[in-house]
Amino acid sequence: MADQSKIRNFCIIAHIDHGKSTLSDRLLEYTGTVEKRKMRAQLLDSMDLERERGITIKLQPARMEYQGYILNLIDTPGHIDFNYEVSRSLAAVEGAILLVDATQGVQAQTLGNLYLAMEQDLVIIPVINKIDLPAARVEEAKAEIIALLGCKEEDILTASGKTGAGVQEIVQRVIELVPSPKGDKNKPPRGLIFDSKYDDYKGVIAFIRVVDGSFEFGNRARMIMTKTESEITELGFFKPQLVAGKRLECGEIGYIATGLKDIDGCRVGDTITIAGFGSIQALPGYKEVKPMVFAGLFPKEGNDFEHLREAMGKLKLSDAALYFEPEHSEALGLGFRCGFLGLLHLEIAKERLKREHDMDLVITTPSVAYKVFTTDGKETIIKSAMDLPDQSRISKIEEPWVKCDIIAPKEHIGGIMSLVMDKRGEYKNTEYLTSGKMERAILHYELPLSAILVDFYDKLKSASSGYASLNYEFLEYREADVVRLEILVAEEPVGALSSLVYRDEAYRVGRKIVESLKDAIPRQMFEIKIQAALGAKIIASERIPAMKKDVIAKLYGGDVTRKRKLLEKQKKGKKKMKAEGRGRVDIPSEAFLAVLKK
Ligand code: GTP
Repeated sequence: MADQSKIRNFCIIAHIDHGKSTLSDRLLEYTGTVEKRKMRAQLLDSMDLERERGITIKLQPARMEYQGYILNLIDTPGHIDFNYEVSRSLAAVEGAILLVDATQGVQAQTLGNLYLAMEQDLVIIPVINKIDLPAARVEEAKAEIIALLGCKEEDILTASGKTGAGVQEIVQRVIELVPSPKGDKNKPPRGLIFDSKYDDYKGVIAFIRVVDGSFEFGNRARMIMTKTESEITELGFFKPQLVAGKRLECGEIGYIATGLKDIDGCRVGDTITIAGFGSIQALPGYKEVKPMVFAGLFPKEGNDFEHLREAMGKLKLSDAALYFEPEHSEALGLGFRCGFLGLLHLEIAKERLKREHDMDLVITTPSVAYKVFTTDGKETIIKSAMDLPDQSRISKIEEPWVKCDIIAPKEHIGGIMSLVMDKRGEYKNTEYLTSGKMERAILHYELPLSAILVDFYDKLKSASSGYASLNYEFLEYREADVVRLEILVAEEPVGALSSLVYRDEAYRVGRKIVESLKDAIPRQMFEIKIQAALGAKIIASERIPAMKKDVIAKLYGGDVTRKRKLLEKQKKGKKKMKAEGRGRVDIPSEAFLAVLKK
């Protein structure tokens, strides 16, 4: 039986690349959970994609046993798009190691993640990492952490995930400071489902934190919210691979295989219990995440829709935040309109569909989720510019705004200010992290999410010589003066290329799209008009001239009337072809890609 007072549940939070996964490797090694010879770098990043790109996408639990203690660690992602994974991990633990890279100091997502941990009342253990590096500025990082947490200098540990220095002290501190899980082992069983994954043989596997009571192999599990029931076909721990056991006891973190074939029955955030215990109160769970960025995903090969449908279903099993619904496009065929938490999320989903399911995709221009108020008093979230009702029926449109924190050295404040102003941002206030020569500022802004979607991050990096870091969270919807920019090819509107743009940018954007289409669409036998329009008004236009067949090549000498006759005939032929509908232009998917990339 596990002694509840000897369980410590904790996670590691940090800005991206500050070394969480590497430090987790050292913890697994130090506690003897994974033998040194079986160790590979960033063991907890289990997806190939995670290892290659060096980023953590999924949260990942591991159970370590050390001097009679059970230490449950959850490694979390650092990128803002995956904040949802972070907040879920935080609800399953009592403490957090706040890791700060000694060469970088406190960064925007250090702050963001710290606030999330503080909201959950977690015990925070600050650790300065990468002290082996010559560029380490341990004293400055310490001053920043003290300013942030109001802690004492001796509360801050130093470590290196590379050499293993300081790892022992971290383990000791976790045992000392992180409280053992509360929960009542005699109460009816309740577990928080903090993640899930799908296994072809075991069905849906729920990752759970046992809050009260215990679960046993062979019990019949019941999910409180969805009311689904299923046998527990296996349960056990993360070591970090799944290792089957007999019981999951109060306070422990482990998995329950449900045999369910459908993720909908076993939702992340739901409470799991055992059938037959009567009415049991659900745990607080999580606030549902709403996708903020939408794009159309279409198979490059038009007839691959069924394959894509299956792949999306599978992806959803390990990506709780993914949203999708079928969509049809004249130009691209059958596909899905998908919702993401941000652009990196989109990119990762695309990569995973390619790698794990061999799907080649065309992706339409990502857009934020707009709220449209119509004259009949209704409000709807539109997921695509094509869903925008007729202008005459719209009373107003709102777009999502975010609260955004930027941390940067003081000398770059000017450049960042003007970038944010350019992007319609509103300045709120500035705080300073440290005093002294390396003074850095935290700039607080509010800005439209659409501004961040495009190239904000790259521009921010260049405005700050690479030093600025960014964190943002959804704030509210605010009114926006946007219009639908329509693109017409051969006088036919192409839905997949229409987008919502700020009214005062419509001309510039329209011109850009028309120009890039002109270069990307191959010539046809007839002339093609490419136009950008706002309603009935054409605001930009280009022509792709017809391919010329030299009908007069065979003529020698100067018979002008004969020449003219042949040219007339050709002209008539082209006109007839167009009238008969043979003038339809098939826009190759490369042309879409060319436009969408801009
Ligand atoms: P995300 O999960 O993507 O946020 O990254 P992470 O915080 O897990 O960072 P990761 O462990 O992947 O480390 C990022 C980079 O820093 C890698 O190239 C590591 O090899 C390197 N690194 C991590 N810890 C140390 C350290 O203590 N010293 C040195 N020199 N390099 C380190």
